This record gives sequence, C-alpha cells and structure tokens, in this order.
Amino acid sequence: MSEPLAIGVLGGGLMGSGIAEVCARAGHDVLLVEADATARDGGRDRVAASVARAVERGRLTSADGQQVLDRITFSLDLDTCADRGLVVEAVTEREDVKSDVLSRVDKVLPEDAVLASNTSSLPIMRLAAATTRPDRVVGLHFFNPVPVMPVVEIVTAITTSGETLARAEDFVRGSLAKHVVRATDRAGFVVNAMLVPYLLSAVRMLESGYATAHDIDQGMRLGCGHPMGPLALCDLIGLDTVQAIAESMYAEYKEPLYAPPPLLQRMTDAGLLGRKSGRGFHPAPSSS
Ligand code: CAA
Repeated sequence: MSEPLAIGVLGGGLMGSGIAEVCARAGHDVLLVEADATARDGGRDRVAASVARAVERGRLTSADGQQVLDRITFSLDLDTCADRGLVVEAVTEREDVKSDVLSRVDKVLPEDAVLASNTSSLPIMRLAAATTRPDRVVGLHFFNPVPVMPVVEIVTAITTSGETLARAEDFVRGSLAKHVVRATDRAGFVVNAMLVPYLLSAVRMLESGYATAHDIDQGMRLGCGHPMGPLALCDLIGLDTVQAIAESMYAEYKEPLYAPPPLLQRMTDAGLLGRKSGRGFHPAPSSS
C-alpha cells in the first residue's frame, strides 16, 4: 500500500460517505466535511452501517472495521481542510453549489494539493475555473455503491497537468485498488454517456404505458443479465441525481435522448427520489 494521505471529502451523502469509507479502508486519514449537523450525522450513520455490513459479511474483522471508523473525522468547517493533500468534492450535483465549495476550499488548501470532483456530468473545466489551481483539478468519478463498484473514471480538463493525472491514477489504482477508466471532459464522460439515455428510455417507456415498472426491470435483469433493472437503478442513484445528470448532458449536447422526461421531473417534485426517500419507481428495499 502507498503512503497514507490526508484526504478531505466534501459532502457526506451517498457518494461522499462511500468515498470516505473506501479511502479510510485503504489506510488514509479522512476528514469528511458537511454543511450542517444533520447531514454530518447522516454521513456518519451511512459509513457506520456500511462498515457494520462488511463486518457481518466477514469482509472486515471488527477490529479492522473500528480502525476504518477511527480514521474518519467529521467536520462542519471547510477551513479544517488546510492540511489535506487531496480533496474529493462530492456535494450535490449542481454547478453553482460545486463551484462555490471548490472555490472556498481552494483558498485554504496547501499549494500542491489536488482538488478532485466526483461530478457525474458537469464539465471539469468549468469547476476548475472556480479555483486558482486549474492544473491540479481533476474528475474522480466513483460509482454507487462506492465500496462495491471496482472502477473510477478519471476525467482530465484541458488544463489538468500530466502530474495531476499521474497522482490521480496512482491513488485510484495503487491505493484504492480500483480500476481506472480515463475519460475526456465531455458531459457524462464514458459510463453516463451510455447509461443515462438507457435509464431515460426506461422512464419514457413507463410514462407512455408501454410496460409496467416491474416488467421493464424484470426484462432487463432476466433478459440481459443486468444486476438490477433500469428503474431500480434510478432508485439506487437517486431520481434527483438522474435528473440533474440528464439536464447537464442535455445542456451540453442538445440531443433529445438526454432530455429528462416529464415523469422524472414530477417524481422529483413529489420528493419520490428513490431509496434515499423511501420510494421511487419501487418502494425502497427494507434491508438497504
Ligand atoms: N454498501 C456497501 N456494500 C454493499 C452495498 C452498499 N450500499 N450494497 C451492496 N453491498 C455489498 C453487499 O454487502 C454484498 O457483499 P458480499 O457479496 O461480500 O456479501 C454485495 O455488495 C452484493 O450485495 P447484495 O447481496 O446485498 O445485493 P446484490 O447482489 O443485489 O447487489 C448491487 C447489490 C451491488 C447494488 C448490485 O445490484 C449492482 O451491482 N447493481 C448495479 C449498480 C450500478 O449499476 N451502479 C452504478 C450506478 S451509476 C453511478 O453510480 C454513476 C452515476 O454518476 C450515476
């Protein structure tokens, strides 16, 4: 394993808590920064539940599980990132929110620190432009559930230096032991460029009454061997996140296949966001 790093994770939602956990499991000292006490406690609970699950399944000993938890410190203050060598931003998928957080953390970080964004679809260059270190800004796009999915997309903006890319690759491969997919800075990168039109077409199929949610998902699971159907996957990702990703891809390409269908908007307006709200296209499974 490489040297332990001082890592900051901004945002303790589904992705941020998973990123904090995998970094702590790799032996790093992790500081997870949230905006308020409720969100911080939610992040802490998610990490604790995931580590407890790994211990129950025999993937971690309880002593190792405790060490993972001990390596994560929680904070409500971005200034506490002043000693971090790598910060991974995983706040809500909105450009104004991400740019604001990146610009604030940029001011307190050591000069040679790398700032990574876990954005699913926003151009890395626009996020990099909110900082004074565009050569040290890179996309590190993890997949949900982060402790399970073995790949990270590394996205370079036109300003990202070769050294930053090398550091990012070394971190993902050498330290987190995940595979790397390299992508250039186009909305959706590699995976979402293919996944999102597929998810949206499942929503359109449901919306038009073509088939039921159960049958759409069953068809793709049993007919194509996918681990879960597209509507269940929307529920796992979060319908608000799917909507936000689709909007940024539509803004970039102006292609109808990326346009979020009205049903998706209605569901997010209604607070039916998937697993995180208890109901989306399906009721949330009781065990997750
Ligand atoms: N956290 C930690 N571990 C988890 C977990 C979670 N949230 N969910 C499942 N696991 C672990 C389980 O503990 C289990 O581990 P063991 O085999 O060691 O016991 C393993 O994963 C399998 O879990 P389950 O048996 O509970 O359930 P499953 O076999 O149905 O798998 C799944 C669940 C891993 C989520 C699987 O259904 C799957 O791979 N689904 C597709 C997920 C996917 O496509 N993710 C990408 C989403 S797109 C994205 O993230 C990018 C974006 O920008 C939107």
